[in-house]
Amino acid sequence: MIELNKIYNEDCLEGMKKIPDGSVDCVVTSPPYDNLRKYGGMESFSFDKFKDIAQQIFRILAEGGVCVWIVGDATINGSETGTSFRQVLHFMECGFLLYDTMIYQKRNPIPQNHNRYEQCFEYMFVLSKGRPKTFNPIKVETLNKGKIMNWGGRKTKLDDNQCRRHRDSFLIKTKYSKIHTNIFCYTIGGGNTGHPAVFPLQLATDHILSWSNEGDTVLDPFMGSGTTAIACIKEKRNFIGFELNKEYYDKACKRIKMELAQPTLF
Ligand SMILES: C[S@@+](CC[C@H](N)C(=O)[O-])C[C@H]1O[C@@H](n2cnc3c(N)ncnc32)[C@H](O)[C@@H]1O
Repeated sequence: MIELNKIYNEDCLEGMKKIPDGSVDCVVTSPPYDNLRKYGGMESFSFDKFKDIAQQIFRILAEGGVCVWIVGDATINGSETGTSFRQVLHFMECGFLLYDTMIYQKRNPIPQNHNRYEQCFEYMFVLSKGRPKTFNPIKVETLNKGKIMNWGGRKTKLDDNQCRRHRDSFLIKTKYSKIHTNIFCYTIGGGNTGHPAVFPLQLATDHILSWSNEGDTVLDPFMGSGTTAIACIKEKRNFIGFELNKEYYDKACKRIKMELAQPTLF
């Protein structure tokens, strides 16, 4: 029996088999990519294993639930592998909608010694089981917030509170905010988690806020250093996580314990 607000030192495929159908609202995760890292010498992450995991994720998600799958590809013999694309096409065969292909841009990518442009992003595939039941978009300020702009040649008057275009006017009052683009940019590194491939806490937070509500259940099958769980605690979501490597699991548990010990303001 899997309990909420716990992480398990277990293979996620076995762990997910114990989660009832349709009981998870959102998955935010980053699997091992193309075996780029060994994570303590564990077995390779084969495509067959991926397929079984994809099927389990589809089964345990509620109708309208969303899985955010954050991945990149290795370059082997001069070519990117395309594994991310193979994975996402398989997710669609499982029944997911590819709701959005988002980009996780790294503000400060580590310079590499290679003959190509610096790699500065990963994919964030937003896969939904039917249309997403929750979307709380992150908003940003518009450049010209509230300014009245002339989008044509004719000058006509516009009332102060009028935001939409007048039928016979070219004057438009610009909105104060708009929905964020589907490229999210973060500074990487800086944490002291002891894990080699941590994603930014803000990235986990942004997706959890976007695709779930307070009290919902969020799963990270590849919990690593516990980032998704920390974001869930801060944003009042329930979490479940699996991490196969005992050393990372222990560190994640410690991080979660420290977060829970923090006094809350409200
Ligand atoms: C890319 S890292 C995730 C990092 C995480 N997002 C964070 O911020 O710390 C992938 C993790 O998956 C773990 N892992 C690999 N195969 C697994 C499996 N079958 N079940 C559970 N965890 C696994 C690895 O040990 C590694 O810590």
